[in-house]
Order: sequence, then structure tokens, then C-alpha cells
Amino acid sequence: MKQFKRIGVLTSGGDAPGMNAAIRAVTREAIYRGVEVMGIYRGYSGLIEGDIRPFGVRDVSNILNRGGTMLYSDRCPEFCTEEGMQKAVNTCREFEIDGIVAIGGDGTFRGANDLTAHGISCVGLPGTIDNDITSTDFTIGFDTAMNTAINLIDKLRDTCESHARCSVVEVMGRGAGDIALQTAIASGATAVAIPEIPFDADRAIDKIRTSHSLGKRTFIVIVSEGMGKEYSATLAKRIQEETGIETKFARFAHVVRGGDPTLRDRLLATLMGQRAVEELFLGNSNLVVCERAGSICTTEINYALTLDRMYKGKLAEGELSPYSQEQIADMHAIGERKRKLFEKLYSVVDRIGL
Ligand code: F6P
Repeated sequence: MKQFKRIGVLTSGGDAPGMNAAIRAVTREAIYRGVEVMGIYRGYSGLIEGDIRPFGVRDVSNILNRGGTMLYSDRCPEFCTEEGMQKAVNTCREFEIDGIVAIGGDGTFRGANDLTAHGISCVGLPGTIDNDITSTDFTIGFDTAMNTAINLIDKLRDTCESHARCSVVEVMGRGAGDIALQTAIASGATAVAIPEIPFDADRAIDKIRTSHSLGKRTFIVIVSEGMGKEYSATLAKRIQEETGIETKFARFAHVVRGGDPTLRDRLLATLMGQRAVEELFLGNSNLVVCERAGSICTTEINYALTLDRMYKGKLAEGELSPYSQEQIADMHAIGERKRKLFEKLYSVVDRIGL
């Protein structure tokens, strides 16, 4: 067991519903184990500037059910410089923080990795609506974002049915189509366009035209942000021109990033937060907490980042050399499983979204 005097908790990058639940779990689990907790505000910017306050049990009351992050968040380019990192390390020394739980996406994990190299034990929690951390099946905030999206799409469906219209809806996700794909199934979309699978717009338009001729009045098409800036607006225009169906375009953008977390996100955040503290106490560091096949587990940050780059086809030359054949095979298997899941879900939209 490693002895800690104080641990810090921070949220960084895009906020995600459930981050508060994670902050609460980390704080209370650490206090339960007799360690002081410091809330680090505004992510790595707050760490550099010393925007830090002590947290007691009651400081994290009534946040479990709230969206956003009570610690606020930031993207901090200064932290990527050696000078910024040195300032952050000095802050840790000044506040006697010897362990940090960092909640965020891959940028947050890169920061945690660098901090670990400078002697501060760090564990990362995947907090992003995008679900684009390949080492975990679910990220904190993903479920809520999708639930918000389907609630909004249900409302669009009502008015589409009244007026016999089509709605093209763009949802966030950066380069990942996870939100779009699952939302498309759950909202009964006719078609979904995601960056991971080539989208045949002609085929989708044909499908709409045929169903329209058979009496269908409402059409929902979901487009992932990762298809490009103008893609959804252009597709909406094409659908209207080529089918004669009045087509409206809606970009949900940040709306799906706010709101109270679902039960699933509260549970995931709580279990992951608790596990992060457990790992620190076991003397483990430089880990990401994940959920795989229904179980909470951990993976090394470097491994998680490399796995991500492998999945996204962005591996740097020689990046796999530190890993054993078995680890590399595992990475391939995880990526393959995700690709297969995507293909399966995509074909569900194709067959059932009529
Ligand atoms: O990573 C979360 C996310 O909401 C992405 O889906 C989106 O592309 C991006 O952040 C938007 O970033 P910002 O909040 O800086 O506009």
C-alpha cells in the first residue's frame, strides 16, 4: 500500500455529464481511506496557477445528479510545454499533492502521463461524450449525450410526422461515430452517416424516395460531426432536391454535452472514481480506468494511447516496438471487436430503419 498525504482531482478537456459523480466518488473514497483531497479547478490550467481548494465530504454534496463539472474545465496548451509542466509539478509540491485523478479524454491522459514521468502518481478516468477512448467500451458522459439526443430527435419526429418532412440531425463526436450510430438505432433513423464506414448518399436517398412512395411521412437521418463541417447541411439540401420532401437540418452541437447524467453514467463514474483511488493506494500509477465486457478494469495510459492511435490509423513509426507480440495482438483484437460492432450496428440501421 502506498501512503499519500493528499491527492488532487481535476477535470480537463470537453466536459461530460457524470464528471461530477466521478469527482464525488474520488473525493469520498479518498477521505474514507484517511487522505486529504484537493479540488483542482480549470483542469491543468488550475494546476499550473494553483487554483486549488481543499475538499471535504460535504463539498461534493448534491453534485452526483448534475451535468457539467463543478471543478470547471479547460484545454491548456501551456501544460504541453516543459515550462508549464514544471510549474504544475511545483504546484503539486507546494500543495503537497502526491497523487492526481485526472478526468477527461486522450489529451487529459497525455498530461497525466507526463506528470507521472515527473514523479506525480496519476490515474485517468475516461470522461468524454464521444466514446472515442478505444481501451474502454464506455466513457463517462456517452450514455447521457445519446439519451439527450434521442429525446430531441423524438420531438423532431413529432413535427416531421405532422408536416411530412425529413430531418437531418448532426450530432457531436469529433472523429468518432459512436454517438451518431447508437442514436440512429434508438431514434429509428432511416440512415446514418459516420466517418468509420463509407456512406452511400445515393442509396440513402433512394431508400427515402421508395419509403415515401409507399406512404412514409417522417424521415430522420443522423450525421456524425466527423463527416465534416458542411456535410449535414449539404446532405439535407440534396435530400430535398432529389426526393421533393421538405428537409430541415439541425445541428445539436453542445446541447448534448449538458444535462443531468443518466443512471448508467452516474454508476460508471462512481465505480470508476472509486477504482482510481484504489489503484493509487495499491501504488499503481499511469493507468486509465476502463469498462470492458461489463467489468471495471485498468490499462496503462501509454498502452491506451497507442491502442487509440492504432484504431484510428494514426500510429507513429516504431510506436509498437515497446510492446510484446501478445499486447499487439490484444490491441488488434480490441480494435477488430469495435469495428465489428460498428458494422453490426450500421447494418441494423440499414435493415430496420425503413
Ligand atoms: O470531445 C467532446 C466534444 O464535445 C466533441 O464532440 C466536439 O467535437 C468538441 O468537444 C467541441 O469542442 P469545444 O467544446 O471546444 O467546442
